[in-house]
Amino acid sequence: SSSLSAEDADLNHEFNSSLVFDYYNSLLINEKDGNDNYVELGDELILEPNEHFNNLLVNTTYSDVQLPTNVYNKDPDILNGVYMSEALNPIFVDNFQRDPTLTWQYFGSSTGFFRLYPGIKWMPDENGVISFDCRNRGWYIQAATSPKDVIIVVDISGSMKGLRMTIAKYTIITILDTLGENDFVNIIAYNDYVHYVEPCFKGILVQADRDNREHFKQLVDELQAKGVGTVNKAVLESFKILREFREAGQGGLCNQAIMLITDGAVEDYESVFEKYNWPDRKVRVFTYLIGREVTFAENVKWIACNNKGYYTQISTLADVQENVMEYLHVLSRPMVINHDHDIIWTEAYMDTQSLLLMTTVAMPVFSKKNETRSHGILLGVVGSDVPLRELLKLAPRYKLGVHGYAFLNTNNGYILSHPDLRPLVGDSDALSTVVT
Ligand SMILES: *[C@@H]1O[C@H](CO)[C@@H](O)[C@H](O)[C@H]1NC(C)=O
Ligand SMILES: *[C@@H]1O[C@H](CO)[C@@H](O)[C@H](O)[C@H]1NC(C)=O
Ligand SMILES: *[C@@H]1O[C@H](CO)[C@@H](O)[C@H](O)[C@H]1NC(C)=O
Repeated sequence: SSSLSAEDADLNHEFNSSLVFDYYNSLLINEKDGNDNYVELGDELILEPNEHFNNLLVNTTYSDVQLPTNVYNKDPDILNGVYMSEALNPIFVDNFQRDPTLTWQYFGSSTGFFRLYPGIKWMPDENGVISFDCRNRGWYIQAATSPKDVIIVVDISGSMKGLRMTIAKYTIITILDTLGENDFVNIIAYNDYVHYVEPCFKGILVQADRDNREHFKQLVDELQAKGVGTVNKAVLESFKILREFREAGQGGLCNQAIMLITDGAVEDYESVFEKYNWPDRKVRVFTYLIGREVTFAENVKWIACNNKGYYTQISTLADVQENVMEYLHVLSRPMVINHDHDIIWTEAYMDTQSLLLMTTVAMPVFSKKNETRSHGILLGVVGSDVPLRELLKLAPRYKLGVHGYAFLNTNNGYILSHPDLRPLVGDSDALSTVVT
């Protein structure tokens, strides 16, 4: 219901570019200036230890709003979004009173603010900045994008030596972090030859679950630049794998992409795209040009633009995060009109505060305004953290069956499914393995 409320609130809100609005900013609450007055956006919010939240100091009457350091806290987009999302507050309170399994409830906005219930005091990290950006979190990305099949193609020719290789590796790791167990992936490196970074995964795509992502990260770390780069063979190989996967009806189906990471492409590569991806352009090609040099920018741009992708240049490590995130806008989940909202359950993870195994339930929020309806404008993602222990309590063994909750053990996580909700993976009726 949080998702629908957010949509209705947006529907009834007219954007006001001169809006003045005070809100509880979680960084500034309870902060006073030299004259003992509360600072702007820093009103008093009484916090009390709460057993339900590991005795953290919280305020269960109000949610409050966090922003990453690089987002201006009075930007009109932020003010309008925060104002609009105030409508969620009573819903959060009501949910909390009705459902004892819920812990944190939140709304991550596409503009970058994060409304969290219950309200807390947010502390800057050790560098004095707030780097937490809700839009980079797995639950946000998984709810905001459709399942995808991704092949990362990385240039490891001699010219990539040094800083370029470091940036390329970090780019791959950042792309891997945007993937979840709904997605499929492989990584191909090329110089004079095509190398699968994991030779056992030759010619296939594997599930982008945590094990595989971590395994890939280790292998990527070992890559070394040498030789001459010929991108054609690697791209051709990628198109073949994606086509086979698509024709077998596996994987993300509607979203297939090649992420090409290189410092330039020189040979005649047009024919490969023409032969394997045109005219349908079923595979989007995103290109990341590594380094400051722009000699080859036109070629790399051409590849992206002619294959429904997106081109970015990454010259420093600091550019990586933001540039990688751009592709997610292109692959944003299309809005399904008059259809149930897509609920996603994230992979289980260990909450470091409570040491409980948690899962996040998240759902995208789209604008229902007439003028944006057809484009499916994503307003953000609502989410809630639920300890698996609590869910297991709700689902005693004797009740399990096709109408019960089901837990499927994967290597180091759990996939959770409920017949009333769209399962994360596979068919809920087919899941019957119980893990306790
Ligand atoms: C926009 O916000 C300003 C300041 O809050 C307010 O005075 C004004 O009436 C608002 N305009 C509309 C059209 O609501
Ligand atoms: C939350 O903070 C507000 C504002 O300071 C206060 O009025 C309210 O009582 C607090 N709620 C709780 C449960 O402490
Ligand atoms: C939006 O479109 C619907 C159906 O076409 C129409 O009934 C409604 O009045 C429209 N709303 C606005 C605010 O224009």
